[in-house]
Amino acid sequence: MPSPDDAAHPHNAASAVDGSPKEPNHLIAACAFSETERAAVYRAIETRRDVRDQFRSDPLPEDLIRRLLEAAHHAPSVGFMQPWNFILVRQAATRDRVWQAFNQANEEAALMFDAGKRAKYQRLKLEGIRKAPLSICITCDTQRAGPVVLGRTHNPATDVYSTVCAVQNLWLAARAEGVGVGWVSIFHEDAIKTILNIPEHVKIVAWLCVGYVDELYDMPELAVKGWRDRLPLDELIFEEGWQADDKES
Ligand SMILES: Cc1cc2nc3c(=O)[nH]c(=O)nc-3n(C[C@H](O)[C@H](O)[C@H](O)COP(=O)(O)O)c2cc1C
Repeated sequence: MPSPDDAAHPHNAASAVDGSPKEPNHLIAACAFSETERAAVYRAIETRRDVRDQFRSDPLPEDLIRRLLEAAHHAPSVGFMQPWNFILVRQAATRDRVWQAFNQANEEAALMFDAGKRAKYQRLKLEGIRKAPLSICITCDTQRAGPVVLGRTHNPATDVYSTVCAVQNLWLAARAEGVGVGWVSIFHEDAIKTILNIPEHVKIVAWLCVGYVDELYDMPELAVKGWRDRLPLDELIFEEGWQADDKES
């Protein structure tokens, strides 16, 4: 079976008409996946979970980590900017320091909720930094493609949006591999930048706790713990324009 990159692939074949070599157009067939393949894609999407506590301690094989990073690196990015870096943090001492930063911010966060919700917040587990054997800090280099980036000219935040796409690719690939991922965002960015020696112009987008899991919740843990439920999709779909009057925001 010729690969799409192969000169023997029908779409890339040299012109036989006048004998001159034809530039490959790189277009390949794009029919729907088979039913089984489609089911696998939707299964990954629907059963992906944010994991805080179900991590096993055994390390992930290097080739598996590489597949996850390849998935992330195939994300869309504004102007093909690819602004991401992936900082792999395995050392327990470093993860301990990051946990301290989380813990301080988490205590501050608890105080931001009114008294009624605070106790409930404090009972939630919101990270697996020390339990998961691997953390991946995913960053966004705001200068990656120079001062003017195609597509980012009118919305500088699109570099961060791109990096979030990379996070989601990794998260879905991890689900398919039996690997759990937990996104931690409760920390002062500067605290983590200091620990990891990250330059000024580089933003931290995600701290991901990563490790094998044997069990996952069948719905978001925040719903299981009574914090917040999934909204009905029908209430979020508008036709032809914003319909604020009868829809809650
Ligand atoms: C940008 C972002 C930041 C998040 N930060 C945290 C976090 O700091 N701690 C945490 O426990 N979960 C965090 N989460 C996970 C969400 O709580 C979780 O995605 C949501 O509750 C839905 O659950 P699910 O991912 O299992 O479907 C974050 C998710 C996103 C997308």
